[in-house]
Amino acid sequence: MYSGLVTAAYIISAILFIFSLKGLSKHETSKQGNFFGIIGMTIALIATVLIQQIIHNTILIFISMAIGGLIGIFLSKKIEMTKMPELIAILHSFVGLAAVLVGINSYMNYSFNSLIKENNVHLIEIFIGIFIGAMTFTGSLVAFGKLSGKIRSQPLVLPHHHKLNCLVLGISCILLLLFINTNIINVQIFSLIIMTAIAFLFGGNLVLSISGTDMPVIVSMLNSYSGWASAAAGFMLGNDLLIITGSLVGSSGAILSYIMCKAMNRSLVNVISGGLHTIKTDLEKEVINSKYHEISIEELVDVLKNSTSVVITPGYGMAVAQAQHSIAKITQKLQQYGIKVLFGIHPVAGRLPGHMNVLLAEARVPYDIVLEMDEINDDFENTDTVLVIGANDTVNPSAQDDPNSPIYGMPVLEVWKAQNVIVFKRSMNLGYAGINNPLFFKDNTYMLFGDAKTTTESILKLI
Ligand code: TAP
Repeated sequence: MYSGLVTAAYIISAILFIFSLKGLSKHETSKQGNFFGIIGMTIALIATVLIQQIIHNTILIFISMAIGGLIGIFLSKKIEMTKMPELIAILHSFVGLAAVLVGINSYMNYSFNSLIKENNVHLIEIFIGIFIGAMTFTGSLVAFGKLSGKIRSQPLVLPHHHKLNCLVLGISCILLLLFINTNIINVQIFSLIIMTAIAFLFGGNLVLSISGTDMPVIVSMLNSYSGWASAAAGFMLGNDLLIITGSLVGSSGAILSYIMCKAMNRSLVNVISGGLHTIKTDLEKEVINSKYHEISIEELVDVLKNSTSVVITPGYGMAVAQAQHSIAKITQKLQQYGIKVLFGIHPVAGRLPGHMNVLLAEARVPYDIVLEMDEINDDFENTDTVLVIGANDTVNPSAQDDPNSPIYGMPVLEVWKAQNVIVFKRSMNLGYAGINNPLFFKDNTYMLFGDAKTTTESILKLI
């Protein structure tokens, strides 16, 4: 009786997950999308517990769910928006580790229950599941370390990096052949252990060699890997919903990574294999010796009052300072003076996809004045003043002017084309990619030093 009910519940959950993804793709429908996801997951959990009831594990499951749920609620209340990418990275590592454990468990059941090796497909599922899970686990741990500043964001590239990666994949293929073709259990266990160790090292090395600029794509790629790891676990457990959900996460993560790569004018293969490396180019060295201009709050207010159009380009610093509320109020004031105000959002501004959009929505900045990079870039030429609030890499002209720069070719917000550019930051420190920014030394650029919340609140008082 239960199995029919469970299948129906799984189909409903799968449909709700698809609606959830659709809803989450737009601001306006994102709450709805989240709601669909919650309902889908609730149905999926109830249905899965129903299956488990047959094999009498319900109490254990409820205890684990209660512990997991409590940790989840505690973390979601405690974590600040700026720490979200790290949280996502560490959560991906749990998915990877879970896939490894499910794989080991599946193998133990398999080898102990079947005397004759008859099901190669199942063995391949186990092998691939553990491989993807293990590389997702260590890759996500390193991503967590890099995003939280515990590991330096500069790439660490081993000699013969690409050859090493190919060698690892080659050895894993040989181990797979050994794993499915041998009748000796000890040889099987040996190949599984060696492959798992190699996959752990491979995942860590893959992310260690990625430059800071590419971290957003890698977070999204790890999201995709964690989806494929779940799908592999679904195959091992014979759970259809896990296969569907894993595939949805895997493919949506891969599509998002592709879109982000396109936005950065990079190829996905180049990003994943650690293509960008930070070096000081001649233009950068020239920049380090140049002079910059400072501006005071009073002078800045005068510049704003004499402008007819203002574009605000926020970045990670706005999130750190939590300056979005005072910026929203400044926007309202400027609009009251008849000044046209727009926001320009770079696709990788901040530390996670849509970071700036979420913060601006939280501060109730109307969606229709928040434009994407492609929509706003042509407007800068006719803009009087651009306020760059805690952004650095996303407004770096080296992406267009310096063929030797690691970010050359990446589309950026062309803020320097405006009449005046005012950069809000605390010091002359570098941005996330760890490279210098010639924008700060241009004749029409003025630096306003200080925490963005303090400076924007002071501006608000003076306007
Ligand atoms: P960044 O290049 O990281 O620059 C942020 C700037 O904000 C820094 O120059 C910093 O300078 C300033 N800042 C920090 N705290 C501040 C505060 N309290 N008040 C004022 N300024 C403050 O940011 P971005 O332009 O947004 O570029 C994003 C970078 O992160 C890109 O390289 C991107 O690839 C990477 N990334 C993005 C993501 C996603 S998915 N969006 C994920 C991971 C990494 P001071 O220290 O001098 O104040």
